[in-house]
Amino acid sequence: MRIVIRIGGSVVANPINTQLLANYADVINTIKMQGHGIVVVVGGGALARQFIGLAKELELDTNAQDEVAISCSRLFAQLFLKKLGKYGDTKVSVTLEETVKSLSEDKIVVMGGLKPGITTDTVATLVADVVGADMLLKGSDQMGVYNKDPRKHTDAIKLDHLSFEELSGVFEQNHHQAGIHQIIDPEAVKLLKEKQIKTIIVSGFEPKNMLSAVQGKNVGTLIS
Ligand code: UTP
Repeated sequence: MRIVIRIGGSVVANPINTQLLANYADVINTIKMQGHGIVVVVGGGALARQFIGLAKELELDTNAQDEVAISCSRLFAQLFLKKLGKYGDTKVSVTLEETVKSLSEDKIVVMGGLKPGITTDTVATLVADVVGADMLLKGSDQMGVYNKDPRKHTDAIKLDHLSFEELSGVFEQNHHQAGIHQIIDPEAVKLLKEKQIKTIIVSGFEPKNMLSAVQGKNVGTLIS
């Protein structure tokens, strides 16, 4: 299978958790050894937000703010790529064309941001579409998608399976609840729905969840 793995910056880079990152490298190399093609997309986490703050203080425009955030995510991607070792690509991929090429050469591709005005969730979706991925896995800071914000409602229920339409509905209902967007960016949701990309959202704090999802085990929330 071809699999896009999106690791939330809020999980591994907020602040940078090297132990978790090392565990991810092991898990992703294991999935690779099982014969799958993998693209990993990482966000810039706290470092990117810090640089966005600095750019704002300097009164730089949103394009410049995004550009420095993208550089942070790529630096972080580079760190992760080095830890992957021999299965990893020679350098961080910065275009969709490079990603397609490296994947066809049987390398694990690692990316950060792509262009201003989007998030790394959207990058992962664009990549999944262009490489014809069988699934997109997102390691989020929650265990999956809930019917309401689990940080505010103790009776929130995790949903095991959602259609793309139902996912859009969850976002509309939770429109005014800050934080719910962190599960997956609504712009990315639109694209996932349009392209019908099978997506599984799992807790990113347990890298083995990625292995379970690839093996078809019931973990997190499946969106299909
Ligand atoms: P994300 O919000 O996607 O990163 O990008 P993250 O740290 O992984 O976030 P979580 O864990 O999902 O919450 C950080 C910022 O980088 C810029 C945007 O400003 C975005 O808010 N960015 C990222 C881009 O402009 N283009 C990209 O392709 C990616």
